Amino acid sequence: MVTTKRTPKRTPKRPSSSEGEEPAAPEVDPDQHPATLDDCRRCPLWANATQGVPGAGPRRAPIMMVGEQPGDKEDLQGLPFVGPAGALLDDALVEAGVGRKEVYVTNAVKHFKWTPRGKRRMHKTPGQREVDACRYWLDQELESVGAHVIVALGATALKAVLEDPKSRLQDSIGKVIEHGDRLVVATYHPSFALRAPDPETRHRAYAAIVAALQDAKKLAQRRK
Ligand code: URA
Repeated sequence: MVTTKRTPKRTPKRPSSSEGEEPAAPEVDPDQHPATLDDCRRCPLWANATQGVPGAGPRRAPIMMVGEQPGDKEDLQGLPFVGPAGALLDDALVEAGVGRKEVYVTNAVKHFKWTPRGKRRMHKTPGQREVDACRYWLDQELESVGAHVIVALGATALKAVLEDPKSRLQDSIGKVIEHGDRLVVATYHPSFALRAPDPETRHRAYAAIVAALQDAKKLAQRRK
């Protein structure tokens, strides 16, 4: 099991003020088998993150939720879904009648990928190579948590969970996908429900997340 940390071991990484300076190429070894997230050099994302963000939740859980990657707040706190997207997810869990403490929450990619905009760190979608490299950690979590039902939050999570870079979120929403001995329920990423340009889309995305969590709960109960 990947252990949970709450305090950054490294100074938070911030956009550099020295523009034009080429950063040193980060150390990478895609075949590395690190013992801890902080030792992970399987892809370059470790270099600009404050820390690796492992999953959080019970050691064993019937439901696992998988997001994309930690955001700014998660990178600083070392915990998944503690920022604005996490607040929306918490509301959706309450509405669906699922306790956050009953589910294991993690991300497809464990280091924050960002690009500077002024002093801010803006989210950057992880590439397939980074998702593949991080599968090393997701596999360990899937194995140790033993969840029968996986909720994939957004396209990156769906591709990671199904191990299929061609899978499309739009084709999967509202369906239960059998994947090996697990059931995968796909829905929108909470950030989409927060940031979609019009209120109607945001409302529909939020309702779809709640519906997916309700489906996951029913599927997990059937299995008891
Ligand atoms: N978005 C994610 O996908 N995961 C988090 O932990 C936070 C925001």
